[in-house]
Amino acid sequence: MPKFIQLTDVHLMPPGGALFDTDPEVRLRQALRDIRANQADAEWLIFSGDLTHRGEPEAYALLRDILDQETVIPYRLMIGNHDNRDNFRSIFPDQPVDDNGFVQSVIDYDSCRLIMLDTVEHGKHTGHMDEARLSWLKDRLAEALDKPVYLFFHHPPFDIGMGVDRIRMVDDEPLLAVLKTHPAIRHMYFGHVHRPIAGSWHGIPMSMSYGLNHQAGLNLSGMKHPDRSGPAEYAVTLADGPTTVVHFHDFLYLYPVIITPGMGGGGGFKRTMAENMPVKSEA
Ligand SMILES: [Fe+2]
Repeated sequence: MPKFIQLTDVHLMPPGGALFDTDPEVRLRQALRDIRANQADAEWLIFSGDLTHRGEPEAYALLRDILDQETVIPYRLMIGNHDNRDNFRSIFPDQPVDDNGFVQSVIDYDSCRLIMLDTVEHGKHTGHMDEARLSWLKDRLAEALDKPVYLFFHHPPFDIGMGVDRIRMVDDEPLLAVLKTHPAIRHMYFGHVHRPIAGSWHGIPMSMSYGLNHQAGLNLSGMKHPDRSGPAEYAVTLADGPTTVVHFHDFLYLYPVIITPGMGGGGGFKRTMAENMPVKSEA
């Protein structure tokens, strides 16, 4: 069964650079170590953009070093509005791009296809899918008419009721027309928003998750909201034939594990440990 992991909005700085009140390098290493300990059988890591905060070559070089050191799982990197496509490509020449140089690619499983899209327009924080990118997507969907498809974007093409709507993807209607050419788009994943959200867009299921470094609080007033530090998570997808399950995992903290009578603990108590570690009873 395909098992792949979405990580998003790393916002890495050059070496030694904190961002707001957290260190994005530390957060990324924590995520990758948690994946190594608990999700080592995943086939792919998909990073859905904002790999760096300001797009410096030094930040991409640090990202490359961290990935080399912390994971053996193959990864696919996408860019977001905080990235710089040219600097990214200079440090990651092995990451695939399309014929126009957009950071777009596919991953083929026997049972499904993953498509990673490039929604970045340099100089803008809004997302864009111009004719060239949409044409590429249409062709990749046509190649996979007999397979379920999973799509990854940085910018969502719809409002979520928050201030970030001002910088969402603007080419929603032409994108939708292309998506309608495929009968089995199983799920869409987004970054950009820094919040865990699930729902659907024109009937297509979708989700997005907390960024690794900083998060957006829930503010449905439509006003611009401050970023905050808080939980960080990655999303694990199990793509089992007709069933798609997306697990969100907050990897930063060790939570109390509650053992109830009849479950091997001999009584009700709790203690702090990693939730994925085997639970032993205490006399
Ligand atoms: Fe971001």
